[in-house]
Amino acid sequence: MLYAEEVSVRFGGLTAVDRVSLHIVPDEIHAIIGPNGAGKSTFFNAISGINKPSEGKITFQGKDITGLKQHQVAQMGIGRTFQNIKLFGSMTVMENVLCGYHQHVKSGLVHDLFGLPSQMREEAELLERCKELLARVELYDKRMMKANNLPYGEQRKLEIVRAMATGPKLLMLDEPAAGMNPSETEELKQFIRKINAEGLTILLIEHDVKMVMSLADTITVLDHGSKIAEGSADEVKNDEKVIEAYLGKSYRR
Ligand SMILES: Nc1ncnc2c1ncn2[C@@H]1O[C@H](COP(=O)(O)OP(=O)(O)OP(=O)(O)O)[C@@H](O)[C@H]1O
Ligand SMILES: [Mg+2]
Repeated sequence: MLYAEEVSVRFGGLTAVDRVSLHIVPDEIHAIIGPNGAGKSTFFNAISGINKPSEGKITFQGKDITGLKQHQVAQMGIGRTFQNIKLFGSMTVMENVLCGYHQHVKSGLVHDLFGLPSQMREEAELLERCKELLARVELYDKRMMKANNLPYGEQRKLEIVRAMATGPKLLMLDEPAAGMNPSETEELKQFIRKINAEGLTILLIEHDVKMVMSLADTITVLDHGSKIAEGSADEVKNDEKVIEAYLGKSYRR
């Protein structure tokens, strides 16, 4: 589904991502782990059009997407969330999801929800689709709540739902469990499993190692910008380099 080939991202003299290659197959849950500053988010940004790769090539479903702009990458079918919450806190749950649809709609509404009559049908359809999505992810009853008033776990879930609004094939989640308590993390895990089972391929950055190990089909480990290991949870947690760089001895079998 996605091939990154020898992707590097440099900031001045700093090589944040150093010739990283990665292959994501359809329907998998693929995780990227590694210490702080390893280059995980920068790698995400290179895929999603926020940082241009300094070198390398990225193809998605056979098409070259290297260096495309953010909205172009989104239109190709790649959705993403960010490490820090980026909801519009004083807007409702529904309005936040509508913003997610924005880049998908020809007449460019949302800020213009009650515009020209010619837009009315498209808008009505959009509202309907938005409601369907919210029902599917069990946020329908809270659709009129301000995003800020949701419990933290549901705010993070709403970010994911907003990224799902454009109907992506690949969804990239940057530390979705950050700041969550164990029960919120467990719910998130079930939610990711559910949307994956419904046909979304997932690329996930996460520091909650327990969650990653039980969720991911494939794990790629970055350290100092380079890929140091890749494989199943069992393979990765017994890898000396990974234990040394990130996991520590407690994960040794
Ligand atoms: N826009 C930028 N300009 C300069 N340096 C940057 C920029 N973005 C990231 N870096 C640097 O690149 C390196 C990789 O950072 P990145 O945020 O990708 O790490 P990460 O693996 O996501 O870490 P964390 O687990 O803490 O989120 C770090 O040294 C960081 O300081
Ligand atoms: Mg990061």
